[in-house]
Amino acid sequence: MIKLNGKVTDTLGFFEGNDPFSLIQMYSSPLYVYNERILRQRCRELTSMCFYPDFAVNYSAKANSSLAILQIARQEGLYADAMSPGEIYLERAAGFPKNKIFFVCNNVSGSEMNYAFFRQILISADSLSQLELFGSMHPGSRVAARLNCGIGTGHHEKVVTAGKKTKFGIDAELVPEMIAILEKYDLKLVGINQHIGSLFLEDSSYIDSVNALLSLAKDFPDLEFIDFGGGFGIPYEKQLDQGRLDLAKLGEKLDLIMYEFVKQYGREISFMIEPGRYVVAEAGVLLGTAHSVKKVGGTKYVGTDLGFNVLARPMLYDSHHDIEVYRKEDIPSWKTEAVTIVGNICESGDIIAKDRQLPEILENDLLGVLDAGAYGYSMSSSYNSRLRPAEVLIRRDGSAILIRKRDILEDLVKSQLSIEL
Ligand code: LLP
Repeated sequence: MIKLNGKVTDTLGFFEGNDPFSLIQMYSSPLYVYNERILRQRCRELTSMCFYPDFAVNYSAKANSSLAILQIARQEGLYADAMSPGEIYLERAAGFPKNKIFFVCNNVSGSEMNYAFFRQILISADSLSQLELFGSMHPGSRVAARLNCGIGTGHHEKVVTAGKKTKFGIDAELVPEMIAILEKYDLKLVGINQHIGSLFLEDSSYIDSVNALLSLAKDFPDLEFIDFGGGFGIPYEKQLDQGRLDLAKLGEKLDLIMYEFVKQYGREISFMIEPGRYVVAEAGVLLGTAHSVKKVGGTKYVGTDLGFNVLARPMLYDSHHDIEVYRKEDIPSWKTEAVTIVGNICESGDIIAKDRQLPEILENDLLGVLDAGAYGYSMSSSYNSRLRPAEVLIRRDGSAILIRKRDILEDLVKSQLSIEL
């Protein structure tokens, strides 16, 4: 096998000596591959980024809720947020204790709230009406609230989750009404949280939002914790040497702010961050196969099995993922050229990389889509009745183990009922 532009995975030692072609032969194409060492390294960078003693990293499981990934995050000392009863179920299955799961829900039914409540999992209300619903069902209980302090950020407008133009959180202007509901139902507000959006590499908006949240926090006397939210970015353009988020600097800034806050507040409380992408994105590579090469209207298309059913991010947000090219035979590509890499789904938007400068790709080459560990498998689907791929974990001793089987054709009908004709 030769790697035609494998600098990033080579530098990381991503495959730990495994041959991507052997992995594909064993588990079929496409295939999500994760590296346990890198995953643990990212967890440790986060858990050690602050000196403040009661600082927790709440892993946002929506980024990747595969059981083995959750298990590793738990063993590394992370807590977990959940967005749905399904995520609570998976986190419990991965061994997270109930007091380390935080239900950061949005627009849920009373019965979904109760799924968490009766498992003693703390719930954050994301609107006055959700707080009212919770209070009417469980007066006298502990609760948290998600606040929207008006500052948002994100790599695309669809992932900005605070500010005036989003559906999330209780508008800071409504805090007096929120307090009235807390009093009406004798609720104890033990935590406040926010999440301003996904992917920042420069921390100024995040720090501004932390300060804004803390300026509201002073008015709540019973707080046990404050959760600043996630959004910690990773460099998706590694082939162009894009810089990393400076975690050490962000940690220092947060330390100053947290120590100062508790001095004023009069007692120590816990603080949390809620990253998803930072934990797992760089620990994942998506492998796929080039099945066809053709030209239409002057554009060279490389047709692969990497449709948006497998990785939705490029189609949804025009997201960039670096791509490496691997070849089984020792045949070099003598030129690089602009190609558009597409999937096998019946929509013209099914493009994973547009006009990308890459070494000439031949049929049967493998493509390695980098930084695919977050919002990859968790957003995949069986659209076009395609089978979702397997997931493999490369352990620290270099062994590659299956952590999720590829779907089989029977999965397409297993929950359907045919009718009498
Ligand atoms: N906390 C809450 C309440 C969230 O809604 C999210 C992400 C996070 C934490 C974690 O954000 P992160 O650290 O991963 O940026 N599918 C999009 C990202 C959507 C994020 C949704 N919420 C993507 O592929 O870029």
